[in-house]
Amino acid sequence: MQIKGSVALITGGGNGIGEAVAKFLSRHGAKVAIVDMEQTNIDRVVKDIKDAGGEVIGIQANVTSEADTAKFIKATLEAFGMLNIAVASAGIIHDGMMLNLDKHTGKVSHKMGLDKWQPVIDVNLTGTFLTLRDAAEAMVNGGWEGLLVPISSVNKVGQVGQINYSSTKVAAALLPKIIIGEFHMRGINHIRCVGIAPGYAATGLLTGMNQDMLKELLADVHIGRLVNPDEIAALIGHCVENGAIDASTLEITGGLCYPNGIAK
Ligand SMILES: NC(=O)c1ccc[n+]([C@@H]2O[C@H](COP(=O)([O-])OP(=O)(O)OC[C@H]3O[C@@H](n4cnc5c(N)ncnc54)[C@H](O)[C@@H]3O)[C@@H](O)[C@H]2O)c1
Repeated sequence: MQIKGSVALITGGGNGIGEAVAKFLSRHGAKVAIVDMEQTNIDRVVKDIKDAGGEVIGIQANVTSEADTAKFIKATLEAFGMLNIAVASAGIIHDGMMLNLDKHTGKVSHKMGLDKWQPVIDVNLTGTFLTLRDAAEAMVNGGWEGLLVPISSVNKVGQVGQINYSSTKVAAALLPKIIIGEFHMRGINHIRCVGIAPGYAATGLLTGMNQDMLKELLADVHIGRLVNPDEIAALIGHCVENGAIDASTLEITGGLCYPNGIAK
């Protein structure tokens, strides 16, 4: 499959990694659909891509909604006539411990509620499932060559303080095996699925954090810096064009050692 002439849909395409992927694929000749909750982000990315001469549409949608998912798939097909690449990059964090203890009594003073658990599961896991499911439906029914891309994280090994987020990223890392196992069984051979597991990446989330904390994080990274979203986008671009990469999740971390902090 070639990027040039393909149609790509990127959820979370209004910011960070999704924005970089959308711009990379557009620069290399894909038509792109940007899906995001934030209209101002969509407008900015759509303008940038149009100014650079790319073909793009923006769709405001919530990836946790089945109706919204159906809407953005339909809008993409109406605008561009097919779908080849679906990158599920919409994601959120809501960190916390499962239990917090009272310093004096040692008894549980607070436990993580569903208010912190459920939104992360809904966006990162259910949202990814709905996007990939409906993109695959369009690709199967259209008979188009396709690539499905869930976004995992090195936190798939289990990160203390991120029981909600890590749970979704474990699942995202396994989706390629499960989905391609199903496609293989059904003789659907024209659609691949490759997960991407980035390490610490230079998106707003990390570049804006306390610089001492950032330095501490980078102490575990072999290349000594954050991964650039453009480097993640280039890996996804490579996966589009290299038809032998399938049913697995690739890490791009700059050599992150001790991703769950075990060595500290
Ligand atoms: N930044 C990192 O270091 C890093 C590392 C590993 C994995 N990841 C993963 O990469 C993905 C992108 O992360 P990022 O750093 O680019 O984040 P980001 O916050 O920069 O961008 C995420 C985008 O998703 C959108 N979004 C959030 N909830 C949505 C919803 N319900 N429906 C539609 N859009 C929604 C946001 O509006 C935002 O534009 C996430 O899945 C994240 O878990 C990021």
